[in-house]
Amino acid sequence: MHDVVLIPGDGIGPEITQAVTSIFQEAGAPVNWIRCSAGLGAFEEQGNPLPDETLDAFERYRIALKGPLTTPVGAGFRSVNVELRKRFQLYSNIRPAKTLPNIQSRFDNVDLVMFRENTEGLYIGKERWIEEGRHAESIAVVTRDASERVIRAAFEYARANGRRKITLVHKANILKYTSGLFREVGAEVADDYPDITYEDLIVDNMAMQMVMYPERYDIIVTTNLFGDILSDLASGLIGGLGLTGAANIGDDAAMFEAVHGSAPDIAGQNKANPIAFLLSSLMLLHHLKEDDTADKIRQSIYTTLADKTVCTPDIGGAGTTSTFAEAVCKNLS
Ligand code: NAI
Ligand code: MG
Repeated sequence: MHDVVLIPGDGIGPEITQAVTSIFQEAGAPVNWIRCSAGLGAFEEQGNPLPDETLDAFERYRIALKGPLTTPVGAGFRSVNVELRKRFQLYSNIRPAKTLPNIQSRFDNVDLVMFRENTEGLYIGKERWIEEGRHAESIAVVTRDASERVIRAAFEYARANGRRKITLVHKANILKYTSGLFREVGAEVADDYPDITYEDLIVDNMAMQMVMYPERYDIIVTTNLFGDILSDLASGLIGGLGLTGAANIGDDAAMFEAVHGSAPDIAGQNKANPIAFLLSSLMLLHHLKEDDTADKIRQSIYTTLADKTVCTPDIGGAGTTSTFAEAVCKNLS
C-alpha cells in the first residue's frame, strides 16, 4: 500500500475526487488515501487556505493527488497551488495532451508533453503598487539553476520515453534577461543530448504554430506563465480542459492534479468530466511504479469513451460524472 495525501479541493473537486477514488477501489489500486483539506473551502471553514495538518501530511508522505483549488481573483489569499509547488520545489509541471479515442476535436494526431517551470518566473508573488489604483509593478525571476533543472528533466523524459524533439518557448526578443537566460540555458543543456532534436521559438509564434500544426511538436519546455497559457491551449487541441492531467514533480516530492481549475460554473451539477483528474491519478500510479493498474484503468477509460450515453456533456456525451465513473468501474473487468 502506498500512502498518498488526497486533497479533494473546491468547486468540481469533490465530484471528480469521488470518481477517482471509486475507480481506484474497484481496480484494486494499492493506495491508502490520507484525506486533507486546502483552498477556498479550508479558508472558509478554518480561516486558512493551507492548514498546518495538510502541510504536515505533505511533508511526511511527500506525494499527493490534489483537486482544483479556487484562488480569488484580484484581492484575497495567494494561490495555494503556487505555494505548494514552490514550498516542495516541484519544479517540473508535466502536462501531456494526447488525442484520445472517440473524442471529437480539431485534430486526430496530437501528442504533446508540456514541461512548465513551476517555481519562479512571474509567479513568485513579487507585486506592488507604485501608486495604488494607478501604477503596479510585477517582478519576474529566472535563475540558471531552476531553468536548468526543468530543461534537463524535459530532456531526460524525452530519452526515457523515446521522444525525439524538444521545443523551448520564450520571449527573449523582448525579455532579454529573463527569457534570454532561459533560452541560453536551453541551448547549453541541449548540447548534452545530441540524440534529441532541439529548437526554440518565440511564444506568440508558438501559439499560432500549435493551433495550426500541433503534430510538429513533441516536448515543449517553457517558463511558468507561458506554460500555464499554452497548456490550456494544448487541452483545447484535444477536446478541452476535461481531458488533460498534470504532474508536479520535484526531486523528493510529487503532486498530481488536473490542468483545469475548480470550474465554479458547473460545480455541484454532476457535469464535470472526471477524465482529466483520472489521467492525473494514472500519472500518480506510474510514479508509484504501479504500471499494471494504471494501464488497466486507462484501457477501461478508452473503452468507456466509445459509449457517449455515459460521457459528460463537454465531450458530447449525454451522461454525468457518476455515470462515466460507474461505466469505467464496470469496464475494468
Ligand atoms: P477552469 O479550468 O476552472 O474552467 C474553465 C472552463 O472549463 C469552464 O467553463 C469550466 O466549466 C470548464 N471545465 C474545466 N474543467 C472541466 C471539467 N473537468 N469538465 C468539464 N468542464 C470543465 O478555469 P477558471 O474558470 O478560469 O478558474 C476557476 C477557478 O479555478 C479559479 O479560482 C482559478 O484560480 C482556479 N484554478 C485552479 C487550478 C488548480 O487548482 N490547479 C488551475 C486553474 C484554475
Ligand atoms: Mg492554468
